[in-house]
Amino acid sequence: APAPSPAPMKLGFNAVAKSLADVVTVPAGYTASVLYRLGDPIASGVAAYKNDGTDDATTYDRRAGDHHDGMTFFGMNASNKWDAANASRGMLVMNHEAITPLFLHPAGQTITGTGNAAVRTVADEVLREFYLHGVSAIEVNKSGSTWSYKQDSTFNRRVHTLTEMTFSGPAAKTDYLKTKYSTDGSKTRGTLNNCANGTTPWGTYLTCEENWAGYFRRIKANDDPQRTAKEIASFTRYGVASAGRELWATVTPDTADNLYGRWNTEVIGATAVDDYRNGSNTYGWVVEIDPFAPTSTPKKRTALGRFGHEGACLGPVVVGKPLVWYMGDDSQNEYLYKFVSTKNWDAADVGGGIAAGDKYMDDGKLYVAKFKADGTGDWLELKLGVNNITSGYAGYAFADAADVVINVRHAADAAGATKMDRPEWTAVNPKNGEVYLTLTNNSARPVTGTDAANPRSYNDPKNGVDQKGNPNGHIIRFADAGGDPAAVTFKWDVYLFGARSTASADVNLSALGADNDFSSPDGMWFSQAAPGLLWIETDDGKYTDVTNCMLLGALPGKVGDGAAKTITNVDGGTTATQATFVGKAPGTDGLRRFLVGPVDCEITGIAESGDGRALFVNIQHPGENTAKANISDPTKFLSHWPQGGTARPRSATVVITKDDGGLIGL
Ligand code: FEO
Ligand code: CA
Ligand code: CA
Ligand code: CA
Repeated sequence: APAPSPAPMKLGFNAVAKSLADVVTVPAGYTASVLYRLGDPIASGVAAYKNDGTDDATTYDRRAGDHHDGMTFFGMNASNKWDAANASRGMLVMNHEAITPLFLHPAGQTITGTGNAAVRTVADEVLREFYLHGVSAIEVNKSGSTWSYKQDSTFNRRVHTLTEMTFSGPAAKTDYLKTKYSTDGSKTRGTLNNCANGTTPWGTYLTCEENWAGYFRRIKANDDPQRTAKEIASFTRYGVASAGRELWATVTPDTADNLYGRWNTEVIGATAVDDYRNGSNTYGWVVEIDPFAPTSTPKKRTALGRFGHEGACLGPVVVGKPLVWYMGDDSQNEYLYKFVSTKNWDAADVGGGIAAGDKYMDDGKLYVAKFKADGTGDWLELKLGVNNITSGYAGYAFADAADVVINVRHAADAAGATKMDRPEWTAVNPKNGEVYLTLTNNSARPVTGTDAANPRSYNDPKNGVDQKGNPNGHIIRFADAGGDPAAVTFKWDVYLFGARSTASADVNLSALGADNDFSSPDGMWFSQAAPGLLWIETDDGKYTDVTNCMLLGALPGKVGDGAAKTITNVDGGTTATQATFVGKAPGTDGLRRFLVGPVDCEITGIAESGDGRALFVNIQHPGENTAKANISDPTKFLSHWPQGGTARPRSATVVITKDDGGLIGL
């Protein structure tokens, strides 16, 4: 006889109320403990972090970075090998996306001059900032019911903006990647703006380079006359067009190995190997790191394309079938991609490290998504010679396979993909292989410019100030045809719309209430220990008059559980209607607020121990909007979390456990 069907899953916690308090709040019966903070030492002999901006810059390659983001727990056995089920020991690997400079130095960044003449004058400050970006890999252990990281573990590692990395895939060793540092285009230094993450079935970590473009210094008046029209079209499409975020290129004198000058894309020497005119081509990739081999060289996988990589979520893993990763490009009106390996998965490759990546991630097909108004969609292949991606394409004349992966945004334009409302994280439901994608918000979507997949444009004032476009975001989901991740068609619907619960029914389309209303979904991940349980994190600036950012637990249904709906968008005198496919409203039983963070933070990055009884969550940039003028007056800091008192705020990882030792969330 068939086994009786299991009882339906239920969320097992009471909703946390919206809050503006400078604390982390979790439901009754749960405890959140701070595990790993900005500046915490990860090697023996490194002093505790003073958190006053005076710690020695040369120690920061052995301290926690800033702006903790995407994160994976890799269980580790007694032989120091990957053991996904391990519940008490593991490597916790996380991204450090960016920095809050104000709190890193004695009084914020030292800058002289303004506009394009602004320069950084204290090299040690910039060195600190190099080290504070990138990735941490730290050993964590449970003793009794308490988790801690092991400061002197030989597996601890920081990967940062100075770490050497190699390239593989179609762009490796091509002219586009040649620099003074790597005259054959085989390597570069560093990774940057590492936002969300991903994993491989062989036990390595993927870190994704998102807003790297703004770090490069490209002052048009100096370099445009020397650049080709194609080079300028590439810079423009990727947003390499500024004085350079954090002004790293402005430090003088430069070092012999161009630690600062490499952020300057100007043409200086006679050829590409005399300067860093190609420097920005060496960023924008998915990077593979082996947490079990702390001296291994990370590898940038160019077959997965170059864009504002948010994350790379692994699809269903089936022996004898291709592997797939789903990837968002988080910028307004950018695209959703997937990469499908040529090689079929062989479980003998578990533990294969970076060499296994060479097998599965350098050779495959890259696709971009087109969402159609009938609730279906197409995956359009991005390859020279197909889908208008040719030397004759008017928007960008593609030369070769390397040109396509380096300028994949142009290729996706040529193919006619669907422009989305800032595609952030993807998450794959282990129960059915369906893929969820957060579309965090889009202030640039006109009321008449909607489409079925990005159907809203309205005005939702905050404190009397207009917020237009799609200020609260939504979550779309799709199922590749036949449950086959290599399929080139899919069906989709909108799972959830963010909104204030007090908004009109035309805006609050998922009928959210006080226990589950949210805005700007960003981080998102399905529990592996509790298949079907989805975690949703927010990075919001639109509902922050009412609540700090949050984490919600959800039990979603499946694509097609709702109905077609006509949405009425109203903004001032303009009204427009848009037909779309809307999933079933979740109700409190299907969506509940689990955590609210401290003031002015983003909740991002999430992982669990092998048994699902510890949940790791990152609190990013508390208090980041504190005014520079207030650095000498701690009473004016917007947050003091996690230390409290008059301390400077710090990004940090918290670990959440249930007081009865049970599964988190259920
Ligand atoms: Fe770094 Fe798209 O969030
Ligand atoms: Ca994000
Ligand atoms: Ca975001
Ligand atoms: Ca962020």
